[in-house]
Amino acid sequence: GKSYNIAVIPGDGTGPEVVAEGVKVLNAAAARFGFNLDYTDYSLGGEHYKATGEILNDDTIDRLKKADAIFLGAIGHPDVKPGILEKGLLLKLRFTCDQYINLRPVRLYEGVYTPLKDKTPADIDFTVVRENTEGLYAGAGGFLKYGTPDEVAIQESINTRKGVERCIRFAFEYTRNRNKRKKLTLCGKTNVLTFAFDLWERTFHDVAKEYPDIETDYAHVDAICMWMVKNPEWFDVIVTDNMFGDIITDLGAMIQGGMGVAAGGNINPEGVSMFEPIGGSAPKYTGLGVINPIAAIMAGSLMLEHLGESAAADAIEQAAMTAIKKDLKSVEARKMGMSTAEVGARVAAYVAQS
Ligand code: IPM
Ligand code: MN
Repeated sequence: GKSYNIAVIPGDGTGPEVVAEGVKVLNAAAARFGFNLDYTDYSLGGEHYKATGEILNDDTIDRLKKADAIFLGAIGHPDVKPGILEKGLLLKLRFTCDQYINLRPVRLYEGVYTPLKDKTPADIDFTVVRENTEGLYAGAGGFLKYGTPDEVAIQESINTRKGVERCIRFAFEYTRNRNKRKKLTLCGKTNVLTFAFDLWERTFHDVAKEYPDIETDYAHVDAICMWMVKNPEWFDVIVTDNMFGDIITDLGAMIQGGMGVAAGGNINPEGVSMFEPIGGSAPKYTGLGVINPIAAIMAGSLMLEHLGESAAADAIEQAAMTAIKKDLKSVEARKMGMSTAEVGARVAAYVAQS
């Protein structure tokens, strides 16, 4: 069978624990579906930074770019000032590898508690396509009269026609291939951000002409937040900019049952992509074996789907769904009724039997 080189970044806190279970399940899928996964571990993150003073050097970036995919645990360390590792590692990887899409499925699995009253798995099943290299994350701006009473901090949103168009085009293709309701919603703020979302809206309408089979729709980001709570069944795929995508996907994670299940992919269709559970490093739970590895396992499923191993990806998702329904008491940390490693072993066993 085929062979894939996977760069693994376990990262900080509980990252290594959930990555170990993700790898356990990936190996079960590789054995079952007849392909090979070769892993290379990269010790990057807060511990590495504290020990060496280094976050991510160019040589490491070059090696990561040669992998078939990157599997990431979590980045974030209580001893490191917020922003340092996020900008120096996570965002740097997204930018330098040009992972211009952040793909975040929001799906309520059967047996998972949602805080949305009366909503079922049929109602909560959509994907957010978040632009991942521009917008407010570009780092444009600065201070005027820094530290004075007249100080002004300026943070500009960068939106290029090329960057916006490739994201929107990806979203249309994804909507077509997802084959659900074939509806794509642009999430913006055209009533206030009249430059940025004017460009987004014009681009959206231009690209839409090439996809007559896709129903299109527009909503302001604040209204989207309302409807994600009140009528999540309205959505199939939502495309939006980097900042709005960051915010609405945390809301999405909550309505699908929390960080224990939410996974995402940082995608460069022409380069190396990176898959991660979207919960943080949860440092206070490190080593306790109480964190749910399902999100990391689902990130593994997204990775195999991206690599073209669709049957294996589906098998992992199905196996995780079975474990959630049959074995886990809850998907929340500490409440699973099983350890992190037991959940991984159970899902791996279901994959092997699939
Ligand atoms: C995410 C995270 C990151 C982001 C942080 C850690 C920089 O919140 O992946 O959504 O804002 O993109
Ligand atoms: Mn976020």
